[in-house]
Formats: sequence, structure tokens, C-alpha cells
Amino acid sequence: MALLQKGIKIDSNNIPQHIAIIMDGNGRWAKRRGLTRSMGHREGARVVKKIIEQAYDIGIRYLTFFAFSNENWARPKAEVDELMRLYLEYLKSAENETNDKNVRVRIIGSREGLSKEIIDQINKIEKGTLNRDRMTLMIALNYGGRQDILQATQKIAEDVRNGVLAIDEITQEEFQRKLYTEDVPDPDLLIRTSGEMRISNFLIWQCSYTEFYFTPVLWPDFTEKDLKEAIIEYQRRNRRFGDVK
Ligand code: FPP
Repeated sequence: MALLQKGIKIDSNNIPQHIAIIMDGNGRWAKRRGLTRSMGHREGARVVKKIIEQAYDIGIRYLTFFAFSNENWARPKAEVDELMRLYLEYLKSAENETNDKNVRVRIIGSREGLSKEIIDQINKIEKGTLNRDRMTLMIALNYGGRQDILQATQKIAEDVRNGVLAIDEITQEEFQRKLYTEDVPDPDLLIRTSGEMRISNFLIWQCSYTEFYFTPVLWPDFTEKDLKEAIIEYQRRNRRFGDVK
């Protein structure tokens, strides 16, 4: 069916459970066309919707997008404002857009600094999609991996102070539950577009054993074929998790 295209075939027995994506290159895409950076982000948002549909059809259980890092506030105010407008628009449309699909939407990251309007929409969509369970779509908004680890540490410290957790009960599993991703399994595959080869403070705890896939394609040019290729490359990898196989 749709998984077969131009000779490329995804092995349906080895589908990554969780794919995380760093969407990079919107600005360069726009610049090359003489467009504003904001237009690049708008085009990027269009691609996000397309890739969600494809991931859903393939049977990906968790899909996470790095939308805005807690370092992105340093960008020019006009660009930050435009990105926030885009996220608000997206959050307002996402519940309806996923209505015919069994998609749960979760927003990970700090709420600090986000407008009340955005926070209200986040709460609305998280509540409205809570019982959906075929795919979980996670948007990392105002997210940073170090910040995630810090806030988890603070929650652990609070539990210890309140006497509900003993120091020797601080296990990796316990720590993981305090991260923004909570019960979500670690990403199997991390895709970064635009040729940059770094993790940029994204899910740094969670990506300990993740397979990385870097492509020179700029995010607005990323197609269904590119996702398919990334998954096929993932399926060629030999995951050992520190063991010998
Ligand atoms: C990086 O490209 C991209 C971002 C900081 C924003 C990503 C946002 C979107 C794709 C918009 C919509 C997303 C959702 C979830 C609705 P860049 O600006 O750093 O590009 P550059 O490196 O070429 O300058």
C-alpha cells in the first residue's frame, strides 16, 4: 500500500515506536527564495501537518517535534512573536484537525513566559485529546533538555523533603517519570534536517540510546519520501544498547 513507493519498502515489523524531529532550516529555505523567515516557518508548519498524517498511517506511536527551545527567546522579537502566533493558530486548529484521528496531543516544556492564551489552548487540547491512544503527538514548546533535567531534579528534591521518597528510591525509572516526557518511551529515532549535526539541548536524557539521522534537506522541503528514507535507514541500524549482539 502507501508504504511502497519507488522501490523503497518499510519493514512493518520494525517500525520505530517514537520518532523525534528537529525541524531546522526554515530560515535558510526562506532566504534562498527572497522570502521572510516567518514565511519559512509558515511553510514549515505545513510540512508538520503532512508528516503527522504520514506517521499516523505508518503506525508511529509517538511523534515529537522540537518547535521552540528555551534558547529561542533570544531571536528577534518580531520572529518570536510570529512563531508564537503560529503556535497559537496551530493549537487552535489541532484538536479539530485530529478529530477524525485517534491522536493525543501533549505539549512538553516550561509554561513560563508563554502567553495566557497559549497556555489556555494547551490545556484545552491536552484535556480534549486525553483519551486518544493510537498516536501521541508531542510538541516541545519552550523546551530545553537541561531545563527538563533540572525541573525533574526539583520535583525529586521536593518529594524527598516531603518524606514521600527516600534517597535510595531515586532510580532512573523514578527520575524518568519526573521528566516532561513522563511515561513516554525514549525516542528510537531522532531526525534533524538542514545538515546540522547536533542535538541542541533536545531530549538529552531521553536520547541516550536513540539512533540519529541527519539529512541536508531543509525542513520546508522535507517530504514523505524523506521520512520513509529515515525509517529505512533506522531499520538498517544494529541497536545494541551497550550489549553485544
Ligand atoms: C528552525 O529553523 C526552526 C524553528 C526554530 C521553528 C520550527 C517551527 C516550525 C517548523 C513551525 C511550525 C511548527 C509547529 C509544531 C506548528 P531556523 O529558523 O533555525 O532555520 P535556519 O537555521 O535556516 O535559520
